[in-house]
Amino acid sequence: MDIFRGFDRNFTILAADDLPENLALIQDILESPRCRLLLARNGQEALDLALQYHPDLVLLDVMMPELDGYQVCHQLKGTRDKQLIPVVMITALTDLGDKIRGIEAGADDFLNKPFNVAEFAARVRSLLRLKQITDELENAETVLFSLALGVEAKDPSTIGHCERLARYSVKLGEPLGLEASALKALQRGGILHDIGKLGVPDAILLSPRPLSREDWSVMRQHTLIGERICQPLRSFGQVLPIIRCHHERWDGSGYPDGLRGEEIPLTARILQIVDVFDALCSQRPYKPPLSVGAVLQQLHEEARRGWRDRELTQEFIWLVENQQLEESLLQMPASAAC
Ligand SMILES: [Fe+2]
Repeated sequence: MDIFRGFDRNFTILAADDLPENLALIQDILESPRCRLLLARNGQEALDLALQYHPDLVLLDVMMPELDGYQVCHQLKGTRDKQLIPVVMITALTDLGDKIRGIEAGADDFLNKPFNVAEFAARVRSLLRLKQITDELENAETVLFSLALGVEAKDPSTIGHCERLARYSVKLGEPLGLEASALKALQRGGILHDIGKLGVPDAILLSPRPLSREDWSVMRQHTLIGERICQPLRSFGQVLPIIRCHHERWDGSGYPDGLRGEEIPLTARILQIVDVFDALCSQRPYKPPLSVGAVLQQLHEEARRGWRDRELTQEFIWLVENQQLEESLLQMPASAAC
């Protein structure tokens, strides 16, 4: 039986168990030219191998010396670039409390020892299929992020703008009690909000002069172009409204749809405030940076004028005045928001 039949790529699998006979059994089942198998005899070794080789699947015995399976799982799931690696806990324990402990540590699946080979194979195949899909989505996201940062890199004065927006919009979203999925969308939206500028000619994008009415109508298309670029990724459902709506204004005078008030998605209102703040604080070819005090005053004025969500603007001003944002926010290089 070849577990990897039907897959069009190779996999790295890590198995950890302190009993050599258990590792030998796993080795027999997973034997395939499509599989690189890493073996660990204790929890610490398993953690080290996982961090070094980034396997596609981790099979963990629970009771191991040094670190037990729960601890290894917990540490992997708490490591940003390892948290999507599926982890299976293999255990002789049948107690419900142990299973709950495994779930809390982030385990994706469980197998009881002694395990049934057919069941083991089916679970491994199922998790590898899931890992393959996750990898493809991650790759697509990486490409989009690279494109967005490529847009930013066209203008040296905007370097760092997107990553700051990603961080600071999350900082503004957190105290509002947004769900994790919305915070994730804000993080992605910070990077991707202006990706539609890929469709704006450089002569307009990098113009040192104020834009003409015609140029502005082209520039405004970036919200719609960006939405179209990211639309094929289903996991970006909550990011699309941020991209489309980050230039709407509270009083309906924004674009592309002239939405008013709470018609504008909250996440888009959040990103917009941080975007404007970043732009005003920064130097541009045609203007020096404003002081933080002057920027906050202008934000306050724009909210009073009806352009921005007043409560949200106040919340943001509070965060800045109480130094809840990183210092680097107050020492930004140039950036642009249009
Ligand atoms: Fe924009």
